[in-house]
Amino acid sequence: MGQLEGKTAVVTGGGTGIGLATAARLVSEGAHVFITGRREDVLDRAVESIGSAVTAVPGDIAEPADLDRLYDAVRDRGRGLDVVFANAASATFAPLAQATGEQFDQIFGVNVRGTLLTVQKALPLLNDGASVILNASVRADDGWEDYGLYAASKAAVRSLARTWANELKGRGVRVNAVSPGAIDTPGIDTAVGEENAAAVKADLATGVPVGRIGRPEEVAAAVAFLASADSSFMLGTTLYVDGGEKQF
Ligand SMILES: NC(=O)c1ccc[n+]([C@@H]2O[C@H](COP(=O)([O-])OP(=O)(O)OC[C@H]3O[C@@H](n4cnc5c(N)ncnc54)[C@H](OP(=O)(O)O)[C@@H]3O)[C@@H](O)[C@H]2O)c1
Repeated sequence: MGQLEGKTAVVTGGGTGIGLATAARLVSEGAHVFITGRREDVLDRAVESIGSAVTAVPGDIAEPADLDRLYDAVRDRGRGLDVVFANAASATFAPLAQATGEQFDQIFGVNVRGTLLTVQKALPLLNDGASVILNASVRADDGWEDYGLYAASKAAVRSLARTWANELKGRGVRVNAVSPGAIDTPGIDTAVGEENAAAVKADLATGVPVGRIGRPEEVAAAVAFLASADSSFMLGTTLYVDGGEKQF
């Protein structure tokens, strides 16, 4: 028996990287998982790779109507919702002097407003004992050059996990965050450019005490733990999956 037998889960950004690994892990634990993301072909490949107990609903978390379609599909299944992994995010970087209002609106529109809408629109469907997990980042805790807008958006996400945990505890719904360090996903390739990705990943590894960057499956394991009753005494916290980066 898996830890999530008979449960229903939503994973935003479930077509690639950490979201895909988490969707696969939640399915292996017995859940039926709804994944969303903007690229339909990417979602189709994810469904094929996971194999069963997964439904793709293409959409943009910054678009309320798209989230409505996602949750309509969950509602139509008729079993409520037990796990929400609000994972989708946008990462672009610019120093203070070059950052634009459009860039601010885009990053905060997806990472903060999109996360708000993802969780808010899930509320009517959440079953007793449901678990909501927000994907933050270790960048919420430091001041890396050029990362200002992304880092600030992730600090906001981390903050929202605390407030929402407090607001939803009366319903028996737990909200927590994961805070990954550098993880080997297509997200890094997109953010820094394919041609720079290998060098950037090697450089990132030098800052990680375990001597390497992480695998998406290692974050998925932490999310599965927060999704399950094994984490029943964890509320409003952040679980770091960072190879020690922020611990020493
Ligand atoms: N990789 C790392 O080192 C690292 C470290 C700390 C935190 N994180 C966080 O981990 C999460 C996943 O990132 P990742 O590294 O796995 O990168 P990724 O492979 O690029 O995954 C991001 C996913 O989100 C989807 N997405 C992006 N914008 C969206 C939107 N507006 N609506 C719906 N889906 C959207 C993307 O699909 P579409 O483009 O098709 O929409 C993609 O599948 C993010 O929150 C990121 O900030 C990553």
